[in-house]
Amino acid sequence: MKLLRIDSSARAASVTRRLTARAAEEWKKNHPDGGVIHRDLSSMQIPPITDDWGATRLEASELTPAQRAYLSTSDQLIEELRSADTIIIGAPMYNFSISSSLKAWIDQIVRIGKTLGYGPDGPHGLLEAKEVIVITARGGGYEKGTLTEAFDFQAPYLRHILGFIGLTNVTFIHAENQLREQGVASFEAAEGRIIAAFADREMRAVAN
Ligand SMILES: Cc1cc2nc3c(=O)[nH]c(=O)nc-3n(C[C@H](O)[C@H](O)[C@H](O)COP(=O)(O)O)c2cc1C
Repeated sequence: MKLLRIDSSARAASVTRRLTARAAEEWKKNHPDGGVIHRDLSSMQIPPITDDWGATRLEASELTPAQRAYLSTSDQLIEELRSADTIIIGAPMYNFSISSSLKAWIDQIVRIGKTLGYGPDGPHGLLEAKEVIVITARGGGYEKGTLTEAFDFQAPYLRHILGFIGLTNVTFIHAENQLREQGVASFEAAEGRIIAAFADREMRAVAN
């Protein structure tokens, strides 16, 4: 079994980073022999999408050495994604959406022929069933039924784009109000939900 842990906060001591670490710890308890790939997007340069991205429509044998080099980051990030059974994504809310590093990662892994197919019925995701846990942190609160719910362009976007490449088994755990008084309680509640989520998975694995 393999876990892919992705962090995308710019801050070293970030809320999402602490929570993804906790989630990885819980996963490891259930899979002591499992492998963990930790991809910290803040410590790598992801190439921007340029005109060279058009090379994704060519056959591998048609690529020039320069095109192959340009696509090598995408190849590697997609391979990590494909090889993982469980994916934990740490997503800080920046300007009501995701960080630019997480967006850059998404731009590299949504790729025709690799994670996305096109058929007579339009696009379909190519990633087979995997479990995804998205852990977000927000300065404010965007809970269901509140006036600010409509400003959450982070969770709906992530749900859509992950589903677009076939990742439909997605659980969101939010640490809301991190810049408010309720921040500590909200952090602890998120931590509790992470522990419960992995305990539940362990019970299901034992039952099967
Ligand atoms: C550049 C930037 C933009 C932010 N934009 C928002 C925002 O739109 N809404 C919000 O509720 N919090 C916003 N915040 C607060 C963060 O979501 C909050 O501090 C959260 O804990 C960040 O996650 P992290 O601790 O994992 O870095 C912003 C923070 C930064 C640094």
